[in-house]
Amino acid sequence: MRSTAIRPARASDLDALEALEREAFIGDRLSRRALKNFIAARDRLLVAADREGVAGYALVTWRKGGRRARLYSLAVSRRKFGRGVGRALLAAVHRRVAARGYEALRLEVREDNKRAIALYEGLGYRRFGRYEDYYEDGAAALRLEKPLIRPASRKNSRK
Ligand SMILES: CC(C)(COP(=O)(O)OP(=O)(O)OC[C@H]1O[C@@H](n2cnc3c(N)ncnc32)[C@H](O)[C@@H]1OP(=O)(O)O)[C@@H](O)C(=O)NCCC(=O)NCCS
Repeated sequence: MRSTAIRPARASDLDALEALEREAFIGDRLSRRALKNFIAARDRLLVAADREGVAGYALVTWRKGGRRARLYSLAVSRRKFGRGVGRALLAAVHRRVAARGYEALRLEVREDNKRAIALYEGLGYRRFGRYEDYYEDGAAALRLEKPLIRPASRKNSRK
């Protein structure tokens, strides 16, 4: 991870993001067009980049005025698995979303995705629900949520 930087995605990352999406997911993939739109929607799509290019991405969505943001997608290149890239992307997402005042981050994950579930639970996500028949192939999704620590300046303004 030493030489890996987390930064917002740029238009020049589009080819790499599309390739990563194909590599990481069999179905339910984001289209090139969707990726392009998310790059334009500032700060929602983060990439982990090293000297060899894009090693992973995290995509988060939110609604103005909402209390929770949603981790829409997370993917790391197979050649970079197990080196802390996923964890670093999530840490960056947590910081950014908390700084925007969101109280929690929610996500859905395939029930059979042991690696991702271990990553999320290790970072403090808790199961709170399940969707039957959620993915294109009929697999179920677990719903996970992580409470976020609000920056100190906002902490006392709620009472
Ligand atoms: C899930 C994914 C993002 C993890 O990224 P990663 O960079 O390999 O993960 P990290 O190296 O940051 O690992 C962090 C934690 O993940 C878990 N993990 C990583 N590899 C694992 C493995 N082979 N088996 C079980 N848990 C594993 C561990 O909890 C690990 O913590 P540890 O290092 O303290 O043991 C990556 O495997 C991926 O892109 N998978 C394909 C796409 C996908 O499933 N995305 C999630 C959709 S919800």
